Amino acid sequence: MPEKWMPPIYWEGDVVVILDQRLLPHREVTLRCTTARQVIQAIRNMAIRGAPAVGIAGAMALALGAKSIREEDPRAFVRKFFHLCRQVKAARPTGNNLGWAVEKIYSIVVENPQAGVEDMRRLIRKKSQEILEEDVSSNLAMGAWGKQVMPQGARILTYCNAGALATGDYGTALGVIRAAFAADPDIQVFSCETRPFLQGSRLTAYELKQAGIPVTLITDSAVGTLMQQNRIDVVVVGADRIAANGDTANKIGTYTVAVLAHAHNVPFYVAAPRSTIDPTLSHGSQIPIEQRDPKEVTHFLGRRVAPDGVPALNPAFDVTPHRYISGIITEVGILRKPFGKAIRKALET
Ligand code: MRU
Repeated sequence: MPEKWMPPIYWEGDVVVILDQRLLPHREVTLRCTTARQVIQAIRNMAIRGAPAVGIAGAMALALGAKSIREEDPRAFVRKFFHLCRQVKAARPTGNNLGWAVEKIYSIVVENPQAGVEDMRRLIRKKSQEILEEDVSSNLAMGAWGKQVMPQGARILTYCNAGALATGDYGTALGVIRAAFAADPDIQVFSCETRPFLQGSRLTAYELKQAGIPVTLITDSAVGTLMQQNRIDVVVVGADRIAANGDTANKIGTYTVAVLAHAHNVPFYVAAPRSTIDPTLSHGSQIPIEQRDPKEVTHFLGRRVAPDGVPALNPAFDVTPHRYISGIITEVGILRKPFGKAIRKALET
């Protein structure tokens, strides 16, 4: 990472500092959150986004919220804290990491019934930092596994932003790319712009440029042409939620890329930590898909581009069926088909 690299979220004393990703790549502005409500708002409006980063933000929101619950009776505290957990969990529905992080934090409270409220607050705050640190370690491990399946001099396609900005740091799919580049400076990356929020052009291009990794931006609709012209060797993307059978929710448009990759015999990898896996869902069709404001589609840079009165649909994620996925790169290894069995084993590790 270059020295001036700013992580997406971190503790500074009792303040949660969030890099406002809505303003990137032009301005690096931070939000300084002192309440759970401010962090929840930053998750909703996508100042912070990317499933693992949202999970970390959720954990930190709970630490801030625990401080402001004035009860000193443990049972009264836990009741109020449970209510807050539900609010945090509902901030964005598709990514699994948010609910996972909330569960991790809530279990501290449940597992320490004898602890006083002040101890609970301290343990919650500590756990939120551990969740961040473990996420970064997982990303480094994913990089080490994932680089092994990136061919020499690979021309890698990625979608959305699954980088340092979307995690504690380093990234999942971009972590694999960072590790591959460290081993082989001949690789190059094609980043899809990722309509409508432009995570690819605003964030992935920004991150890769900062890391000195050659990146070329393409429109989402250019993927088929590039594959047809034999200009892509491998695809690696992140994930928001992975069902027990390997079906994977990721940014809207990922499914299209996966089908195209399949049609052109291009390997398609998903990189995600185990906290993204939801073993309670047997199929991807059960994954809740966030519907965002149609304005993100009808407007561009605050100006309406579609005719007045024309409605728009704006599903934020889609589900790639497991049959199109060559492998799922996790921190404990690369999972292969049949994914059901591999996922069960990985979760037991
Ligand atoms: O709507 P976003 O920007 O939160 O969507 C992000 C993605 O779809 C990422 O690919 C996914 O969260 C994985 S990030 C490591």
